Amino acid sequence: MQAKLYSPTPAHLRRLAGVLRRGGLVALPTETVYGLAANALDAQACRAIFRAKARPANDPLIVHVLDLAQAEKLAAFSPIARRLARRFWPGPLTLVLPKKSCVPAIVTSGGDTVAIRSPAHPLARRVLRLAGVPLAAPSANLFGYLSPTEAAHVLDGLGRKIAHILDGGTCAVGVESTILDLTRPDQPRILRPGIITPEVLGKFLGLAIKSPPPLSSGGRIGARLVAPGMMDRHYSPRTPLRIKNSIGPLPPEIAGVFMRKPANRPPGNVRWLSRRGSLAEVARNLYRVLREIDRAGFEEIWVEALPADAGGPAAALRDRLKRAAAKR
Ligand code: TXA
Ligand code: MG
Repeated sequence: MQAKLYSPTPAHLRRLAGVLRRGGLVALPTETVYGLAANALDAQACRAIFRAKARPANDPLIVHVLDLAQAEKLAAFSPIARRLARRFWPGPLTLVLPKKSCVPAIVTSGGDTVAIRSPAHPLARRVLRLAGVPLAAPSANLFGYLSPTEAAHVLDGLGRKIAHILDGGTCAVGVESTILDLTRPDQPRILRPGIITPEVLGKFLGLAIKSPPPLSSGGRIGARLVAPGMMDRHYSPRTPLRIKNSIGPLPPEIAGVFMRKPANRPPGNVRWLSRRGSLAEVARNLYRVLREIDRAGFEEIWVEALPADAGGPAAALRDRLKRAAAKR
């Protein structure tokens, strides 16, 4: 198979929606990262997502919907879940809720909860509207690798596994959605940090937001598996990556990644994630820069740690870097 890139013309969008309705796979842009989409109500189609990504069956998928009304057909919403959806959708917030019986077991890895979000990207929304079905869509990369933030990244990883990629340019957010577990409605828990922070969610709800299970816990809080599919090593380049509090002299075989453009460094093995240190820009550039370094054949990547006092999206970036640096 050789994937084709489709520009977002009305005719292409209709055609790709048709592919999805007939049980095919389409990679498409969302505001966070590109997703590999299939009809979420078609177990056979969802099985093909796992095959294309080489994704283990115990790593459940996120279902994308147009709006709260479509989401309520798939999951049981508590009043708190409804308030969050009304305030933060469309946008990069995924809610984990008790699933309804129409959601196939393969989507939830056999579990009784389903992860749902309504994407803000206009192209994702147009495809959802044309397809008329909810779309299961994990990130459109090979399992464990860096998520794709451009159509070329999807082509790179899945070009021989899928046929259709919708090219919507660069993703504006650049890191995956915040995942909030609401299976205990009065005890919301972040499972994966994103740009919608626990501070913002907690303030809006007037509730304390619980932290994700720590690294090396296997996604467990006590004996309870709350975060299936959250592997320690994830979102990782092939080149070994280390997080450094400060980067001294850089041997030529090592790539150095700085949060902002450093002064007085020879350019050969130096990269930076933002011009002036904006965290939103760091998030947008992180996976692209790591992919470029991965292709260039350095022996190791040293990434400057985020400033200890950085808030907001910094927690999501620290989480992704820690997982990128985790040992196989
Ligand atoms: O921003 C995003 O969320 C992107 C775009 C495409 O929407 N999607 C994404 O999907 O990052 P993926 O498959 O790479 O991440 C899905 C993760 C799983 O690895 C798992 O950790 C969590 O979502 N998840 C899915 N269903 C769950 C469930 N029922 N309970 C707990 N966690 C779940
Ligand atoms: Mg993923």
